[in-house]
Amino acid sequence: MKVTVIGAGNVGATSAQMLANKELANEVYLVDILDGIAKGKALDMYESMPILQSDSRIYGTSDYSETANSDIVIITAGLARKPGMTRDDLLVKNAAIVSSCATQAVKYSPNAYFIVVSNPLDVMTYVTLKVTGLPKHKVIGMAGILDTARYRSFISMETGYSMKDIQAQLLGGHGDTMVPLPRFTTVAGIPVTDLISKERLDSIVERAKNGGIEIVNYLQTGSAYYAPGTAAVEMAEAIIKDQKRVLPCTVLLEGEYGISDVCVGVPIKLGKNGIEQIIELKLNAEEKSMFDNSAEHVKKTIQQAMELIAKQQ
Ligand code: NAI
Ligand code: 2OP
Repeated sequence: MKVTVIGAGNVGATSAQMLANKELANEVYLVDILDGIAKGKALDMYESMPILQSDSRIYGTSDYSETANSDIVIITAGLARKPGMTRDDLLVKNAAIVSSCATQAVKYSPNAYFIVVSNPLDVMTYVTLKVTGLPKHKVIGMAGILDTARYRSFISMETGYSMKDIQAQLLGGHGDTMVPLPRFTTVAGIPVTDLISKERLDSIVERAKNGGIEIVNYLQTGSAYYAPGTAAVEMAEAIIKDQKRVLPCTVLLEGEYGISDVCVGVPIKLGKNGIEQIIELKLNAEEKSMFDNSAEHVKKTIQQAMELIAKQQ
């Protein structure tokens, strides 16, 4: 198993280190436009493997030919948010970066599954799908796992119950319009709505929606990376181990939920064939309307990005 992580910044380095710690891949390639950063971080991680008792080998490079025949490519390259910026503010620069990285990576690894992390996430997933020309089951965006992990953490903080017992689903784009779903949230099978008052749950949902900016405002110099890196690795693990996990991920919809030609977050079955099923939840009118609104926002941003890419070509 060979996994390439593009972008040796905060999220990329966290993902590479965790992939190797868990021995999910024999080889992990960390790629960055800054060759020394990729090489230095990779060597530092390599040197931690004897202590961690892992035989994963980590290599750093800026040369895509070394990543040839990767099974999975994780794209984390691009700018991260600073205070006052929305994820959509990253669009122009990251569309160029992600399309360049994805094009180079797929040239050497035409059979790889691509996990996209760079923001704005839903748009970058669409960009990756289009520039690689890969089938839709092979390109999957990471956002819902992070957003639900935040939501689950806040429910654990509120109730005092174990993180292990809290399950949640979420729909929509990775942005202010995301749609956490209290009706599909349980603590060991008990509906969360039986355990937390509507008022408190509304404020938890709001905090989860703003979970990214909460961290940006603390850090001031960038955005979250421990939880995002962990979430990307959970997706890689589901594919590598053929786990058939049910996870909220960003995928291309082609008629599911009455939505087409948009990459947006929905629950999927994730296994060795990538997206093995898109699960259609039975939504009530309010949930459907919030989801449609979110997908519409993403669709407009995708159109902007594709126009920018066309101009650059
Ligand atoms: P970072 O600034 O720490 O790292 C980004 C890395 O990308 C840098 O090392 C930079 O040199 C590299 N890079 C830039 N252009 C490149 C190119 N053309 N080729 C290869 N490498 C290139 O940023 P961080 O915190 O790692 O975030 C990375 C991206 O992930 C950002 O766009 C951020 O918004 C996004 N993100 C998305 C999340 C999600 O839930 N989907 C969660 C957290 C971050
Ligand atoms: C986050 O949600 C910045 O999208 C990133 O933390």
